[in-house]
Amino acid sequence: MTASTLRRWRRPLLVFLGLALCALAHPALAQNYPQTTLEPKSAIAGEVDHLLRDIVFWVVVIFVIVEGGLVFTVVRFRRRAGGPAPKPIHGNTPLEITWTLIPAIILAFIAVPTVKTIFRVADVPKNALEVRVTGHQWWWEFNYPQLGVTTANELHLPLDRPVAFTLESVDVIHSFWVPAFSGKRDVIPGRTNHMWFAPAAAGEFPGQCAEFCGASHANMMFKVFVQPKADFDAWVARQKAPVPPPDSTSLAAKGLTVFTHGQCVACHMIDGVSYGVIGPNLTKVSTRTTIAAGMYENTPDNLKAWIQNAPKHKPGSLMPNMNLSDADVEALAAFLQTRR
Ligand code: CUA
Repeated sequence: MTASTLRRWRRPLLVFLGLALCALAHPALAQNYPQTTLEPKSAIAGEVDHLLRDIVFWVVVIFVIVEGGLVFTVVRFRRRAGGPAPKPIHGNTPLEITWTLIPAIILAFIAVPTVKTIFRVADVPKNALEVRVTGHQWWWEFNYPQLGVTTANELHLPLDRPVAFTLESVDVIHSFWVPAFSGKRDVIPGRTNHMWFAPAAAGEFPGQCAEFCGASHANMMFKVFVQPKADFDAWVARQKAPVPPPDSTSLAAKGLTVFTHGQCVACHMIDGVSYGVIGPNLTKVSTRTTIAAGMYENTPDNLKAWIQNAPKHKPGSLMPNMNLSDADVEALAAFLQTRR
């Protein structure tokens, strides 16, 4: 190999080595990129990951053989000064049959484990916890029909128990995706989709809408909290526990009046207070760590800013700026903070 050939190949070689290093270092990458799919935390995600790795291994082997043959041919049989003109060739039947058969065999080789995995992934276990997921522009509704709990944007799941999801949309196509636990599944208006997984690690995991669905698609996030059974049961009990009405002289009581006499009730449900179904259920809003589908931490200041002018903070937000006075915003925020 001459010095000039080396120089010519240096850059592509460096890029290739860089990519190879990235692939090898993926556990380190996973720490910086929580939405990685390369650190599966459920059996289903593990099977899909395993399938991906198997196929990538064989694809690399085939790539090296094919590209090796190509490079060898290009170099070995290149045109040389003063060489004879190449002999014309009019087809070679055995060769053509061979290069048709080989890709067909390779495809069959990939299809068998893929189809097997698809069937295994579709097989929902019997004792699954049911969760109805509804996609809205731009937030997620989570309903647990067996438990009588409805919440938004924060999904609590028990550790190691299979969860069967029913996925529906009230407006446009969204896509439900928790990278650590499963692949994506579209959430389509007029159609019910299904998926399941059993989270095998406790902790907090990010979820994301993975189908472009309008102005705030990127702001359609959610969190998954996987908890040991006792903690999950405590969460359920807390979601179902009644909230006493605020003390009649408190700011929260004034907030309740603003809530029930204003436009809030048209969109939001609070058990025993209002029956709106367009926006998130606020029965236990202050047990959530975030507001606006994961955009902001659930702090009093953020809550006030959100109530004051939601579209300013979230492009396209269906909750309008209702031009409330500062006093009403303060009172509403105080009332919502009692919903815990
Ligand atoms: Cu919902 Cu993107």
